[in-house]
Amino acid sequence: MSDFSDCTVCVFDAYGTLFDVHSAVGRYREQLAEKADALSLTWRTKQLEYTWLRSLMKAYTPFDQVTRDALDYAFDLHDVTRPDLKKSLMNAYLQLDAYPEVTGVLQQLKAAGIRCAILTNGSPDMIDAAVHSAGLHDYIECSLSVDTIGVFKPDPRVYQLAVDALGVKTRQVSFQSSNAWDAAGAAHFGFNVAWINRFGQRPERLPATPHAELLDLSALPDLIVRS
Ligand code: LAC
Repeated sequence: MSDFSDCTVCVFDAYGTLFDVHSAVGRYREQLAEKADALSLTWRTKQLEYTWLRSLMKAYTPFDQVTRDALDYAFDLHDVTRPDLKKSLMNAYLQLDAYPEVTGVLQQLKAAGIRCAILTNGSPDMIDAAVHSAGLHDYIECSLSVDTIGVFKPDPRVYQLAVDALGVKTRQVSFQSSNAWDAAGAAHFGFNVAWINRFGQRPERLPATPHAELLDLSALPDLIVRS
């Protein structure tokens, strides 16, 4: 059983964990009216499905293209015919809102000497734009993208990227994700995992379980620093 006591590095999933993916559609809520929430949910669900399918098909394409394909699908499904809005939504994805507690938590971790990094499906341009737009660049040592290896989470090679790039041992990493399947993948790889269950999801029935479950990131500094 992991207790986070060896952790010197916090590695964060980006979308859904640090950044609110639904804040993109949120900015165009008036124009999408009653279709807004369903469209946003379809967009996110398809985006993730396409990552898993493309990895299995060995047909990798960068996450910005996957995100565009998923948005096309969502517009089609919900009968939205506004090409201008599609462009605006893709741009909004570069400036997503960070969840309210994120900056404070990263500040606390940095002050405690914990290194912080991002490990994401996001393509480098996308994630760098989001990190800068949300003002997180002072706290994030590096943003590691699956683009380097051309396969998406939860392939174990993705989690290995963080170990290699940060020069740490697996047990020194605390990995945070609000995506239960990503949390399971990281735990299966061997990381200490805090599942940030923002959406009240049920636990996954997958081969590994996270070591801690938090409602948001607020309690993370206590978990890491006081372990
Ligand atoms: C990411 C997706 C899984 O940031 O949210 O990697």
